[in-house]
Amino acid sequence: MPYIITEERRDVYREVSHLSRIAKARALTGDGPSPLHPIYTPRLNPALLMPQLPKNGLSSLSLFSGGGGLDLGFDLAGFHHVASYEIIPVCGDTLLGNRPSWQIFSGVNGDVRKADWRIYKGKVDVIHGGPPCQPFSIAGHRKGSEDERNMWPEFTRAVLEVMPRAFIAENVLGMIDTKFSQYIDQNVLTPLKQYRIVTFKLHAADFGIPQSRQRVFFVGFRDDVDYDRFEVPAPTHSFVHLQTKRRQSIKIQTSINFLDLFDDERDTKSRCMGVREALGLPDIGIDALAPTMRSGFTGPRNSTSIVNSAASVKLWEQLEIWPNGVGESREKAQLFVAKNGHFRLSVQDCAIIQGFPETWRFSGSVYKVLGQLGNSVSPPMAYSVATTVSRSLLR
Ligand SMILES: C[S@@+](CC[C@H](N)C(=O)[O-])C[C@H]1O[C@@H](n2cnc3c(N)ncnc32)[C@H](O)[C@@H]1O
Repeated sequence: MPYIITEERRDVYREVSHLSRIAKARALTGDGPSPLHPIYTPRLNPALLMPQLPKNGLSSLSLFSGGGGLDLGFDLAGFHHVASYEIIPVCGDTLLGNRPSWQIFSGVNGDVRKADWRIYKGKVDVIHGGPPCQPFSIAGHRKGSEDERNMWPEFTRAVLEVMPRAFIAENVLGMIDTKFSQYIDQNVLTPLKQYRIVTFKLHAADFGIPQSRQRVFFVGFRDDVDYDRFEVPAPTHSFVHLQTKRRQSIKIQTSINFLDLFDDERDTKSRCMGVREALGLPDIGIDALAPTMRSGFTGPRNSTSIVNSAASVKLWEQLEIWPNGVGESREKAQLFVAKNGHFRLSVQDCAIIQGFPETWRFSGSVYKVLGQLGNSVSPPMAYSVATTVSRSLLR
């Protein structure tokens, strides 16, 4: 269920957050309760899920780049980065901080509505991007094409002006709801009819990420041969063990059809860690995929919580992890003891839960980092798409 709150409830949250700010300030000056948890060493290193591949001779242009989930996946898969376009300045800072040699357009210069894509014609093999998903997200109001944040027409304009060999667009699952089928026809399939398009959904845990997170992908090819060679990325990991446990003890939303499709295959894959194991937390007899992380750039502003739904609060509790007031560092998270004694997350932990290697540094304050994380495609998922697309394009 989406998180819908009344004004009264909002007032309660305001008060709680005020008190929490005071408690945090005291804790960080050493005037709070003694830490209950050591600083744990994570067991999951997302870098190992996506080893750097040699340059493949293909180039990619990134739209709606955010904090770089897709960009990083394509980079590690061997693509040459041509440029990134992103309207939020702090996202541009993150991209440039990690890849100083990249061409990054951010802020007003990164607004895709102002770009003339024809300068890239003949210079780009692939365009990728995640047009803002709020118009389709269950957490938003689902206005589709009437929502002014609907950027799909801009994405298709870029593809038609550049005519790359392939495009990759991703979005939230809400977009393939039957309610939007006409929208997809009119705004994606019809304008891009010169491309043959494959649509599929992926689950982050199929690629070793300890989070319940699914995305839908639209991959289009200009050439029939490339299209015929394309195969939907196969899962590298199994999370059936976490799923079974979750089904027995914790009831949360799951896509049964999708699970049925891959259950047999998952058994032969590497084991996906649960979130506790991934973060190096001690065994408490239960582990599970983390609930989907919310985006800090949507819903209530400046939030340092990653809670996405009322149902997820229960799961975080069972996992004995505190998902609110995320710490700026592991040291600060340790000092600020959660009232219920549960393990408080830091932004570094959240990055691991989203599949970013620790070497990828995010710019900005905690809520801005969480915004970039919550908006992103998990890089190992992006990597799996990038490698399958490159296999189709390389002869
Ligand atoms: C779903 S996020 C993309 C996340 C990214 N693909 C990743 O993997 O990290 C959508 C991004 O589009 C950006 N955006 C929205 N309107 C834009 C515009 N007019 N021009 C450029 N970027 C825009 C948002 O700021 C947001 O970062």
